[in-house]
Amino acid sequence: MLDLPLDPEGVKGFMPPEEGMELYRAVELAPPGLPCLEIGSYCGKSTIYLGTACQRSGRVLFAVDHHAGSEEHQPGEGYHDPELATADGQGVDTFGAFRATVKAAGLEDTVVPVVAPSALAARAWATPLGVLFIDGGHSREAAQADYAGWVPKLASGGLLLIHDIFPNPADGGRPPYELWCQAQDSRKFEVLGLFHTLGMLRKR
Ligand SMILES: C[S@@+](CC[C@H](N)C(=O)[O-])C[C@H]1O[C@@H](n2cnc3c(N)ncnc32)[C@H](O)[C@@H]1O
Repeated sequence: MLDLPLDPEGVKGFMPPEEGMELYRAVELAPPGLPCLEIGSYCGKSTIYLGTACQRSGRVLFAVDHHAGSEEHQPGEGYHDPELATADGQGVDTFGAFRATVKAAGLEDTVVPVVAPSALAARAWATPLGVLFIDGGHSREAAQADYAGWVPKLASGGLLLIHDIFPNPADGGRPPYELWCQAQDSRKFEVLGLFHTLGMLRKR
């Protein structure tokens, strides 16, 4: 069992403990010193795993999310949480919950929130990354934009993590699985494993 400063199970989100442990392990496997970056922080559940591993190894974690929620989080959609609705009830704002999680976990000295659309942040990004975790928008357009914008920022030897991979279409949406296949087809990665729905690859 991982010793974490805050129990992720008490935080809203979509990261089961067995996959969270692999996030933590991925940081340990990454080239030393390089920063890590997650796309899709929501309320900070995955951030606890990645951020704690980064803190313990002296790294910085950039947490990219516009905090306006994905399609499925919007009012009237299947994963909408009324506690995260904006005051006018028309949208979603997860930034307050995210900040509270980072503070409660003691990760303010390690986690840098980047509150922006991921494609916008990618346009100006120049620092090589040790870990890239993709868990942002799950539409084909959003997933492809994350891959195109961020995978080139991964350092040689860096780890690419893709969440919500469902090889069987009956189990879930296709875009993350398509990224998983795309990364393998590119021959630029060595597969380290598929842990439940979390794919882990190392850039050659
Ligand atoms: C599935 S949730 C992330 C779950 C989180 N990793 C966890 O452990 O609970 C997806 C997140 O991606 C964010 N998101 C979706 N599309 C985005 C985009 N284009 N740019 C930035 N963030 C985006 C949403 O706001 C949402 O918080």
